[in-house]
Amino acid sequence: MPTITLIPGDGIGPEITEATVAIMDAAGAGLDYDEQHAGLTAFREVGDLLPETLVDSIRETKVALKGPLTTPVGEGFRSINVTLRQKFDLYQNLRPCRTIPGVRSRFSGIDLVLFRENTEGMYSGFEIYDARNGIADAIARISRAGSERIIRAAMEYATRFGKEKVTIVHKANIMKESSGLFLKTGMDLAKEYPHLKVEDRIIDNMAMQMVMYPERYEVVVTTNLFGDILSDLAAGLVGGLGLVPGANIGDDVAIFEAVHGSAPDIAGMGLANPSALLQSAIMMLRYLELDEVADRIEKALFATLAQPDLVTKDLGGPCSTEAFAENVIKHLG
Ligand code: NAI
Ligand code: MG
Repeated sequence: MPTITLIPGDGIGPEITEATVAIMDAAGAGLDYDEQHAGLTAFREVGDLLPETLVDSIRETKVALKGPLTTPVGEGFRSINVTLRQKFDLYQNLRPCRTIPGVRSRFSGIDLVLFRENTEGMYSGFEIYDARNGIADAIARISRAGSERIIRAAMEYATRFGKEKVTIVHKANIMKESSGLFLKTGMDLAKEYPHLKVEDRIIDNMAMQMVMYPERYEVVVTTNLFGDILSDLAAGLVGGLGLVPGANIGDDVAIFEAVHGSAPDIAGMGLANPSALLQSAIMMLRYLELDEVADRIEKALFATLAQPDLVTKDLGGPCSTEAFAENVIKHLG
């Protein structure tokens, strides 16, 4: 029976984690959970934002399911999410966005996967503030090796799942060295994958393209900041942040989490949609090669989501987080 590290997180984190665990247990996933706290919750409990016990637990289990963690804006501590991704070298941030039959959304027929580089770029953490002159600098480090491994992951994924097209997103017209290196690395790598159609798009054009013609994109790979923004955009195309899962994957460790944050505006009110975390859990079960139970949960989730009177308020339904989880459990075959 595999043990995973379970991090409920801040804000809506505990509510959606509870719902997700209840569904996995009801489906007979048979996981053991080592519950650990990080971020503000951990700080309140043990005075540490990233306790060593949590790091040790992930080192041992190698797989974690994580609720969102709050990060103060413009001041205070550095994001624990970013720290965890860098600490475990989780260089792939995989974010699948697809329209789910029956769910209210602006488009249909979207099935795209975003690969976001997760350890460097604008989020490298090299920021300097010169207080005397009121000037702040940020260094967006891009490395050939870092670019190559994320773009290769995207091309391998496209190959494995029979996708035809990989789109590399950049701003190499302006950031000629950094974004240029990412693009050049991708185009060099494309020669190893002659069966794939590899194209590139400049980020601003891509934002427009994804809103106008999202069905044209299959596998999209980009640097950290652009990937962060485009993945929220993609979530908006398929019904909102309550629906889109994510995985942070390295060579040794993987942490599964929703794309959305801790949603302090609705925390503790039973309004959160657990579907994004639940789908992250489904990705985790597949990563653990528990495909059968993953498929069963996914089927129950999609059957529930297709019925407007069984879903949460963000999708126009009447249900609380808990009631929605019960509805999914009722649909488990
Ligand atoms: P957010 O994603 O938490 O919320 C944006 C909007 O979407 C809010 O109106 C919220 O109510 C709604 N929303 C999000 N998830 C939902 C769900 N499951 N069901 C229904 N509605 C949902 O983004 P925001 O407000 O910018 O960030 C809040 C905090 O979360 C910040 O401290 C931020 O740093 C943190 N954050 C953490 C992430 C992580 O742990 N991986 C990722 C993104 C943000
Ligand atoms: Mg984000």
